[in-house]
Amino acid sequence: ERTRVAIVGAGPAGLLLAHLLDREGIASIVIDSRSREEIESTIRAGILEQGTVEILHETAASTRVLEAGTRHDGIELRFAGAGHRIDFAETVGRGVWLYPQHEVLKDLIAARLAAGQDLRFGVSAVALDDVETSRPRVIARGPGGERIEIEADVVIGADGSRGVTREAVTGPHGGFYREYPFAWFGVLCEAPPSADELIYSSSPDGFALISQRSPTVQRMYFQCDPDDDPAAYSESELWDVLQSRVPGTTLHEGPIFQRDVLRFRSFVAHQLRRGRAILVGDAAHTVPPTGAKGMNLAVADVVLLSDALRALLLEADERPLDAYPDRALERIWKAQHFSWWMTSMLHVAPDASPFDRARQLGELRSVVGSAHGRAYLAEAYTGWPLAR
Ligand code: DHB
Repeated sequence: ERTRVAIVGAGPAGLLLAHLLDREGIASIVIDSRSREEIESTIRAGILEQGTVEILHETAASTRVLEAGTRHDGIELRFAGAGHRIDFAETVGRGVWLYPQHEVLKDLIAARLAAGQDLRFGVSAVALDDVETSRPRVIARGPGGERIEIEADVVIGADGSRGVTREAVTGPHGGFYREYPFAWFGVLCEAPPSADELIYSSSPDGFALISQRSPTVQRMYFQCDPDDDPAAYSESELWDVLQSRVPGTTLHEGPIFQRDVLRFRSFVAHQLRRGRAILVGDAAHTVPPTGAKGMNLAVADVVLLSDALRALLLEADERPLDAYPDRALERIWKAQHFSWWMTSMLHVAPDASPFDRARQLGELRSVVGSAHGRAYLAEAYTGWPLAR
C-alpha cells in the first residue's frame, strides 16, 4: 500500500496532523494498536492552552471545544496556609480551557471518519524500514495478525513514549532523560467542583492538585510514592489524604470510580528526525504532568510539522523540514523547563532537608509576590504563541 504520509498513532498529535494535512489535500493513513473505544474512553489530560483551542476551533478539528469546554482565567497556588491567585487575564490577557483530551480525540476521530479519511484501529506498528530513502515504510500487524506494509513519502512517529517509532528514529542515541522520586495518585470522583478554578497546593506532606472534568465529575491528584499500589487505599483513606493536602478548603467528596498512579519523567529525544521518519508529541518528548504541557506541546509540534510537510510535498521544498527539529526543540525545552520548574517548586522530595523546604517557600513567595513572577507563570501556563 502507498500513501503520502504514514502516521503511527491516533492520539492528539497523529490525528491533528492528519487533519491539517487533509486540509491541504495531502493524503495520509493513520494506524493505532488500540480500539476506537479504548482511545475515546481513556482519561488523560484536561487543560488546553489558548493557542491549542484556537487551532482546534479554526481548523474545525474540534467543533465542540468552545461550547463544551470551560474557559479558566486563573489558577490558585496554595502554600503555608494561604491561597494566591495567578490571574491569567490580568497578567497576560490569555486563558486556558478545561476540555478533556478524550473529548478532543472524539472530535478528531469523528472529523476524520466523516471526511472519509483512512484511519485504522487495532493495527500495531512493528518496525520502520528504509527511512533513509525517499520510500520509507511502516511494517505493521493487523487485527487478525496479518502483515501490513505502508509505503509513504514520510513516516511520522506519533505513538507516544512507549511506541516503536521513538527508538527507530533515535537508534542507540536515545535522549535526555530524568526521573523523579515521586508520582501522582490520580482519582476521578462523582462530585461537584470544590472550587471555581484549579488549586495547586504544596503542603508539608506533599503536593495535591484539585482539577475538574465536568459539573459532576472531578479529577484530583496527590503526590505519592512511584511504587504505591493504587488498590492499597480505601476510599476514605484517599479522601483523608486529599483533604489533608489542601488545608483551608473542604473538598466535596463523592464515589471514586477510577484511580491510577502516574510516574514522572522528563525526556527529549537526541534526534527528532532520521531521514524521512519524524517524531512528534510524546514519541519525541515526555514531560511530568505538573503544568499540563504534554498534549499542548504535541499540538505545537504538529502545527510546525504540518507546514514543513506542505512545503515538502506540495512545493518540493525540503528546507522547512530540515529546520523542523531545531525549531520544535526551542519550544520543547521551554516546556521542559516549565514542567520541571512547576514540579520541583510544588512537590516535596523524599530527601528534602529543612533548608530545601524553606527555600521552596521562598521561591513560591517570590513568584506570587511579584507581578513579573506571576506573569512568567501565566505566560508559560497559557502557552507561548504558536508558529503560524
Ligand atoms: C490536569 C493535569 C495537570 O497536569 C495539570 O497541571 C492540570 C490539570 C488535569 O488532568 O485535569
